[in-house]
Amino acid sequence: MKKVGKIVKWIVVIGACLFVVAQLIRPARTNPSVDPAVTIEARTQMDPQVARILDRSCADCHSNKTRWPWYTNVAPVSWFIVNHVNEGRHDLNFSEWGNYNARRQDNKLHEMCDLAKGGVMPLGSYTPLHKGSTLSDEDKKALCDWTNRERAALTSR
Ligand code: HEC
Repeated sequence: MKKVGKIVKWIVVIGACLFVVAQLIRPARTNPSVDPAVTIEARTQMDPQVARILDRSCADCHSNKTRWPWYTNVAPVSWFIVNHVNEGRHDLNFSEWGNYNARRQDNKLHEMCDLAKGGVMPLGSYTPLHKGSTLSDEDKKALCDWTNRERAALTSR
């Protein structure tokens, strides 16, 4: 029994040291500047309900206006979060919407509805820490109604 206690003690000590050393690796938490003329809000006909949904449940990973709570500073959590934000922005960035061509916009609108409806987005790692970010059926419907309207507007242009 004494031996087990010693092993546990060492595991705790080594774990604590690794945690401290991990803090030295700090991936950049960026918020690149936003050109208000090219945002998704500026380039689409968005009602306030949809704007709220995107802001509340998606914008932290899909825009350059990420809110970075304190724990995004703490490794190793920070590594995963910065990575999600970078990947999320790479795939879909509301702040750079106007730079996408019509085909890409159409594809992203389609995906937004699809992934939201399927419960894939917002990510499951995000919703527990962000109260109210889970989409209700009503939210999903509002979002998909909007993406359908925007897609129709794209093809009629
Ligand atoms: C916690 C961060 C996070 C949140 C919040 C989030 N996403 Fe994502 N999203 C990602 C990541 C990371 C990817 C890339 C996934 C991959 O490549 O597997 C992604 C991918 C996507 C894609 C795929 C784009 C493509 O072309 O493949 C769409 C569409 C999308 N998200 C929509 C949304 C919508 C709509 C919301 C809000 C309802 C949302 N996301 C909320 C992180 C997030």
